[in-house]
Amino acid sequence: MSMSRRKFVRRAALGLAAGAAAAHAQPPPEKGETPLIVSTWPFAKASNDAAIKILLDGGSILDAVERGIWVTEDDVTNKSVGLGGSPNAAGFVQLDSCMMYGPGHKAGSVAAIEGIRHPISAARRVMEKSPHVMLVGEGARVFALEQGLESVPVDDREMYEKWRKDRAAQSAQKPGNHDTIALLALGADGTIAGGCSTSGLAGKLPGRVGDSPILGSGLYVDNEIGAAGSTGTGENVMRYCATFMIVEFMRQGLSPREAIVKTIQRILQSEKRDDLHINFVALDKHGRYGAAGTDSNFKYAVATKSQSVVLDNPGL
Ligand code: GLY
Repeated sequence: MSMSRRKFVRRAALGLAAGAAAAHAQPPPEKGETPLIVSTWPFAKASNDAAIKILLDGGSILDAVERGIWVTEDDVTNKSVGLGGSPNAAGFVQLDSCMMYGPGHKAGSVAAIEGIRHPISAARRVMEKSPHVMLVGEGARVFALEQGLESVPVDDREMYEKWRKDRAAQSAQKPGNHDTIALLALGADGTIAGGCSTSGLAGKLPGRVGDSPILGSGLYVDNEIGAAGSTGTGENVMRYCATFMIVEFMRQGLSPREAIVKTIQRILQSEKRDDLHINFVALDKHGRYGAAGTDSNFKYAVATKSQSVVLDNPGL
């Protein structure tokens, strides 16, 4: 790790980073614009654009989340989301996804699912069409197929391998293209929803599940308070229920950004590792939003009626 990164993480652990001091010194931001979409990484700008259009055209918030994430799941240049994502140690792409809907505190999730074009749609179907919250592996795939979702033939390994290689050849990876999309949406009526989709850690052990499909880790939505989403090394997020913690800090009165910074500082109290990669976005019921992370190259995307922008990680 470079000196500057080491310093960045140490300062964060001590709560000394300039951003942290500023976050506590500032008064809470004014009420923000709605509808609002906030997502992880620059590649999510295209997803945000699709999602905000659906909301501005009068579509449902769940359609906005689902179809917004479709854009990134279909991006062949993206090696960490969708079927073009990085394979596990056995050479198979296993995908994780979840969706949460504020009203009624509803949720659906799929993990280690193979060959389904839109895992976010599988997660939505689990939420809407099954009595369960989470399905994994082959059971999740069979359910998705029964629901009529688009698939590729993973049973025929030869065909699957050919399909995967052809797809990989379509486009080289764009620089900065890595990790999970977590997309948070706040409707003009105050409804909150979110979704998460990833192929997870490249080269992971077959069956490994990261934070993304785990409610309260990769994503958490509370319709009375706000929502938070995560990207980074899932193992360092899921042991802390980090997005649940962020929403709970917002419940105590912190702004989205303050809540994220406090959560990361909490995690850094017991994580002494220098290679911690955890980054978060959050929004609250009032249309305020924020982000922070341990990766200095982390950026996030925000869309409203009046703007669609990619913003820098403001630091801790
Ligand atoms: N954050 C994605 C993963 O660790 O799987």
